[in-house]
Amino acid sequence: MDHPVSHEPSRDLAVVVLAAGRGQRMRSSLPKVLHPLAGRPMLLYSLDAARAASARPPIVVTSPAQPEVAELARSAGAVVVEQPEPLGTGDAVLRAREAAGDAFFVVVLYGDVPLVSPASLARFLAFRPSSTAALVTVLVDQPSGYGRVLRRHDASLLRIVEEADAIPEEAAIREINTGVCRFHAAALWHRLESVPTSERTGERYLTEVFGLLGPEVALFTAPDALEFAGVNDRAELARAERVIRARINEEVMRSGVTIVDPGSTFLDFGVTVGPDTTIWPFTLLRGRTSVGAGCTLGPYTQLLDTTVGDGARVEAAVVEATEIGPCASVGPYARLRRQTRLAEGAQVGSFAELKATSVGSGSKVPHVSYLGDTTVGDGVNVGAGTITCNFDGHRKHPTTIGDGAFVGSDSVLVAPVKIGPGAYVAAGSVITSDVGAGSLAVGRARQSEIAGWAERRRRRWETEEA
Ligand code: UD1
Ligand code: CA
Repeated sequence: MDHPVSHEPSRDLAVVVLAAGRGQRMRSSLPKVLHPLAGRPMLLYSLDAARAASARPPIVVTSPAQPEVAELARSAGAVVVEQPEPLGTGDAVLRAREAAGDAFFVVVLYGDVPLVSPASLARFLAFRPSSTAALVTVLVDQPSGYGRVLRRHDASLLRIVEEADAIPEEAAIREINTGVCRFHAAALWHRLESVPTSERTGERYLTEVFGLLGPEVALFTAPDALEFAGVNDRAELARAERVIRARINEEVMRSGVTIVDPGSTFLDFGVTVGPDTTIWPFTLLRGRTSVGAGCTLGPYTQLLDTTVGDGARVEAAVVEATEIGPCASVGPYARLRRQTRLAEGAQVGSFAELKATSVGSGSKVPHVSYLGDTTVGDGVNVGAGTITCNFDGHRKHPTTIGDGAFVGSDSVLVAPVKIGPGAYVAAGSVITSDVGAGSLAVGRARQSEIAGWAERRRRRWETEEA
């Protein structure tokens, strides 16, 4: 029987994603498949590949010891099955039998093999679909950690040998098992049941099924070994991270964004950047960040969960959960914290920190300021060194600065307080009560002058010394 596998998500196949292992080599309290790659849990990449291949929801095998994995898989629309004990990859696949239902093919992906692209998976799935099973292998320079592929003289599969069970001649083989494989479902369930457990580990290996099927396994040697790299420890995690980030940068650059140095530019999965934006080195765009067209970002800028309007400029800034309006300008050396909003053309300059503050259009906070819980109207100038005292040691209080107001340098605005529209605050003022619209508030000691004082003092010293 020949079941051609199309490049469209197919109803003929069930994809099982294995994610119930202990992940001990990560030496982490976080389950391995939840470690982020480009800001996104590793498991979700395998689920993307699964969804591109199959119209059925992916089946994720999880461990009861790691309920967070099941939770994430469910929230991503997968069907979750539990493997009560981590008794091996073969045992894990068996747990998915019922969930796979009447699917003709079963495809297995590993939750710790996250770089597989939907296109490569589709090419593999279209490869000799009438064979009982098919397996992706790759040639690598450093095979350690992987199962080695042993072939017969006619190049058909003999079996897979796990590294720990390999004799030196086998260990030297550079063709490895990627873990990505496809089976005719009936043959898989039938053979899996007869796989013995390993004497060494007590686990039931999925790889043993290939030994049982031997020449019935179609071997698909993928050209790009990197795409099928596994993540067992943090060094491999970092390698996978580099691959994903390079892909993201590549895609963004092809969409019309200039990244001056992709090696020092880090975009999380899902970040969007409009065309003709230029990103200078040492810039991180993280979480749910989206940047408009024609912006200039960096150098030395970190944006987290932040929206940037068209034509804005952000340099050497640390920005979190902020909306930066079109043509606004931020930095260098600015910190914008949660719930901050800069309207069109607003400017926040150097050594300014803003928290939960909105700045109206065309308003300026150009130098050395702290504004917290503040609403700044349109066309306002906040002088150098202006500080809002928004915290009384117990509660936070709001400050409002009306449209067109002018706050002189080195002013302290003690909240709660309102500066009316068009009002002036004299430099060096401590403002403790509201200022009316159009008024001038002076909140500082009056300057006094004692004429001739210096000369009199000098004479006194001279008499004392004589
Ligand atoms: C496995 C393969 C190896 C292959 C490599 C590719 C086996 C026996 N070995 O080795 O041939 O070269 O992947 O990266 O299959 N898992 C479970 N339940 C278990 C054990 C593991 O769900 O009881 C899951 C893990 O969460 C992981 C995946 O299966 O996502 C692979 O397990 P892991 O222990 O990492 O196998 P490797 O030693 O990498
Ligand atoms: Ca692994």
